[in-house]
Amino acid sequence: MAVDRIRIDQLLGKTGAGSRSQIRQMAKKGRIMLNNVVINDPSVKIDPKTDELKLDGVRVAYSEYEYIMLYKPAGYISATEDRKQKTVMELIDSARSDLSIAGRLDIDTEGLLLITNDGEMIHRLLSPKRHVDKVYYLETDVKIPDDAAQKMAEGIVCDEELTALPARLKVQSENSALLTIHEGKFHQVKRMMKAVGCDLTYLKRLSIGPLVLDESLGAGGSRNLTEEEIDALRHCN
Ligand code: URA
Repeated sequence: MAVDRIRIDQLLGKTGAGSRSQIRQMAKKGRIMLNNVVINDPSVKIDPKTDELKLDGVRVAYSEYEYIMLYKPAGYISATEDRKQKTVMELIDSARSDLSIAGRLDIDTEGLLLITNDGEMIHRLLSPKRHVDKVYYLETDVKIPDDAAQKMAEGIVCDEELTALPARLKVQSENSALLTIHEGKFHQVKRMMKAVGCDLTYLKRLSIGPLVLDESLGAGGSRNLTEEEIDALRHCN
């Protein structure tokens, strides 16, 4: 993907180095070097692929797009900032200021979270029109009724605000199942299961389209997506 020339202050802002004015101060103090020459004007445009930018003598790693897989543990909220609660951003190894979450998970839900600054990809994965599958593993407080899978397949009426698109429920035991949905409405899986008389005791997202949770990360672990994973997401649906 082509990377355009970008202003030094813009680039450093995206990496989380500081605000525009803070970066201006850094430049004034001679803390920024471009190809080993001190740069006092942070509005200078550079090519991040070929130019070497250093802040306080340390090379600034930058790529236009970043794609991070997080195995979200329970107890963290899917938000970029929060005054009271721990956010998933605290778990990842990136200070970038332009990251968003592709499909939030509730605080008590675990599993696959994709965090990226590729807005177009987020839109594609979440658009109900695209029908990108999201697969969840769930456990319930009571036995899953025998007709639940049929009701889900027909598109279940959850409440006045939500009639779910047809979904696939694969019952695994009396109290556990895999549910594949194509949407991501607020508390969607909980509301769908409630509509067949079950409260959830556990919920975990296993996949989004072709992107499958890397279980080896363990809860709280994260890594960058591989080129193959990024490519598969770009070409799904
Ligand atoms: N559906 C829910 O109810 N909760 C989630 O976290 C994700 C999907």
